[in-house]
Amino acid sequence: MDFNNKVVIITGASSGIGAATAIEFAKQSAKVVLVGRNEEALNFNASKCEDAKGIKPLIIKAELTNDEDVKRVISATIEQFGRIDVLVNNAGVGISGSIRDGIELLDRAISTNVRPAYLLTSLATPYLVQSKGNIINVSSIAALKPIKNVEFLPYCMSKAALDQFTRCLALELGKDGVRVNSVNPGATKTNFMAACGYSKDQIDEIFKVREQSVPLLKMVKSEDVADLIIFLASDRASCITGSTYVIDSGEMLM
Ligand SMILES: NC(=O)c1ccc[n+]([C@@H]2O[C@H](COP(=O)([O-])OP(=O)(O)OC[C@H]3O[C@@H](n4cnc5c(N)ncnc54)[C@H](OP(=O)(O)O)[C@@H]3O)[C@@H](O)[C@H]2O)c1
Repeated sequence: MDFNNKVVIITGASSGIGAATAIEFAKQSAKVVLVGRNEEALNFNASKCEDAKGIKPLIIKAELTNDEDVKRVISATIEQFGRIDVLVNNAGVGISGSIRDGIELLDRAISTNVRPAYLLTSLATPYLVQSKGNIINVSSIAALKPIKNVEFLPYCMSKAALDQFTRCLALELGKDGVRVNSVNPGATKTNFMAACGYSKDQIDEIFKVREQSVPLLKMVKSEDVADLIIFLASDRASCITGSTYVIDSGEMLM
């Protein structure tokens, strides 16, 4: 898959799935734009991207709950590269909590997992129409079924909204030649659980149990999700739009 001269924006590229995705796009000769908050991690991942094919990535430090930062992602990308071919709305945070825990949790989940993707996409759309580009939203199996044994209501709702965003947008932008798809990972070992507040021991235990119980008896890795994103963003997926792709070692079957 060749992304030569294609400009790809990846949010949440400082860590986990976004970092792996940025590096994989760089290996396919894309000009990558790494968006995140942790500058040190962004720099580290950008150097890995540059090592792949010698193409210097653009790093944008941005707090995506801030509209001005979101606008700067698009303006800086256009200023540097002049076009946008692929937008990967990957940045996200796990918000746990139950219906008893108050409305603020839902506001937090939506303000990080949905609103920035909506605003960024709306600002990128004129450029994506020009390039006949595409959008990948990083959702979750939590969009498709509630998570057993964990109170994850706000997160599940935010990811379900993202899936419907994918479908509505695919319908709206199809006639402009812009494709829109979601990937829906199951549990993937990244900083995600730590960012939710779980301790290292808790995370190790959760992953050990999952690994022994999912049908394929192996956990999904960030690189596995990155491969799926690259395929969906490529011309090989030119007839795929409005779809949600589960990648979970069979976790949905449990
Ligand atoms: N890991 C899983 O089990 C799993 C399963 C299903 C879906 N997902 C989804 O996969 C996506 C990537 O998560 P991950 O697993 O790779 O977790 P991660 O390692 O914690 O990465 C999350 C990324 O999102 C960025 N981010 C979060 N809030 C942000 C904000 N307000 N402004 C800017 N950037 C922000 C983080 O940036 P900084 O680190 O720079 O702050 C980081 O780069 C998320 O949408 C998540 O919901 C994960």
